[in-house]
Amino acid sequence: MIETTLTVRADSPIGTISPRLYGHFAEHLGRCCYDGLWLGHMDTDIPTYGGFRKDVVDALKAMPVPMLRWPGGCYADHYHWRDGIGKDRPVRLGLSCGLQVEDDNSLGTHEFLALCKMLGAEPYLAGNVGSGSPQEMCDWVEYCNTSVRTTLARERAANGSPSPFGVTLWGVGNENWGCGGSYDAVTYANEYRRYATMLRHVDPSIQLVAGGHDDNWNQRFIDTNSRHLTLMDHFSIHRYWIHGGPELNFTENQYYGLLTEADDTENFVRRTADTIREKLGTSTHKIGIALDEWGVWHPEARAWGPDNEIHREPITYEQAGTMRDTIAVAAALEGFHRQCNVLSLANLAQIVNVLHAPVMTEGESMWLTPTYYALQLHIPHIGATALPVEIAQSTAIPSGGSAVTATASTQNGETAITITNRHFDQEASVRFNAAGSVKSARILAADSPRAVNSVETPDRVKAVDFSASADGAGQWRIELPPHSMATIVFAG
Ligand code: AHR
Repeated sequence: MIETTLTVRADSPIGTISPRLYGHFAEHLGRCCYDGLWLGHMDTDIPTYGGFRKDVVDALKAMPVPMLRWPGGCYADHYHWRDGIGKDRPVRLGLSCGLQVEDDNSLGTHEFLALCKMLGAEPYLAGNVGSGSPQEMCDWVEYCNTSVRTTLARERAANGSPSPFGVTLWGVGNENWGCGGSYDAVTYANEYRRYATMLRHVDPSIQLVAGGHDDNWNQRFIDTNSRHLTLMDHFSIHRYWIHGGPELNFTENQYYGLLTEADDTENFVRRTADTIREKLGTSTHKIGIALDEWGVWHPEARAWGPDNEIHREPITYEQAGTMRDTIAVAAALEGFHRQCNVLSLANLAQIVNVLHAPVMTEGESMWLTPTYYALQLHIPHIGATALPVEIAQSTAIPSGGSAVTATASTQNGETAITITNRHFDQEASVRFNAAGSVKSARILAADSPRAVNSVETPDRVKAVDFSASADGAGQWRIELPPHSMATIVFAG
């Protein structure tokens, strides 16, 4: 049994955990948008809210989804927003990540923004740089946001929305180093400057997200635009974890390998923030890091990267989501909370059916992956003030880090702590401090790190209530099975 002692430092608040750090990503890719979310284009008995799957929307509301990025991904740099408004919508080639599908554009701007409204999610729209133009994107911003009675505003009203949508977050392309146009960093930086300048004229209140990549690209982008940094509000980086071996039959080493990669996400965020901070110098302008795609991408679902010889044909971007992936999520979220002063938004990729999805569907059935429950366990941290957690004593895992880790936060007089036992096969007894009394305690555990939910066994892994015992004044103790996590909320 691992013995761990944790100390929550309520006296050293880190910063606010923005709801935007709990964002999601819906791309027109595989069965994410069409089929997973939207059924408005087909004849079906599956209940919907105006075309969006009722069961999925209800589950997502309870997850929750504070922010949602759309329509890509790689799809964004082929997307022409006018195709998705009005009555007669063209059928186009739906292009993303090597797929070519029939795309009837029935899920367009109005539908997506209606979904955001239902979910209580802030919309984040990704514009088209690769095959678009600054004018096309300016028109999209004007269509969505202007209150001046222009022809575009009248068209928006005729399509059902007399009031502006007020979309704040706009991405200027996506992965423009690759699928978004194969730019080099300097050329994209110049292009970005042109787009951002023109977009700001249309709506000075929008927040723009510039596309980053690796350290080298990021440095070159920032150097090129060093005199125009106020044109950037967020800088996008993506991090997929790809070194964990097979989705299900991974070894113990591969289990830990994936966790190391998840932990390293924080280093990437910190490094990118340092690059920007150095360039900003004494300026008061803020540029946040936008980790607008993150999560596990298993080799079964890709034809590139380590172990991809085991990929399934055809590639549908669907993969199994195990308890291991969920422990990796908890590790990443600990880092997000620690970096909440520089990380301005984050989007798990993707929301339904694709890659690291919390929700899966098959025909009429829907089930929740362990990651769904992990995100729900983190609800008390959303919008709260992050608190550091010191590890006084623990057992190390192969990375050298502690087997037991935690994140804590406080809001409205309550303190929440989420504790994760990352160990592959050992239980942990954890002692920690917290003022007040236990308001709620929930645990997410499974009989194996390879455990998954599926259409046949939708409830194999789910969060349940459990208990924390008092262990001295202001001290508490919980027992955590291997590869599990728990959130305890204290009040009073
Ligand atoms: O999430 C799948 C793809 O991964 C996105 O379309 C792209 O941005 C990234 O390469």
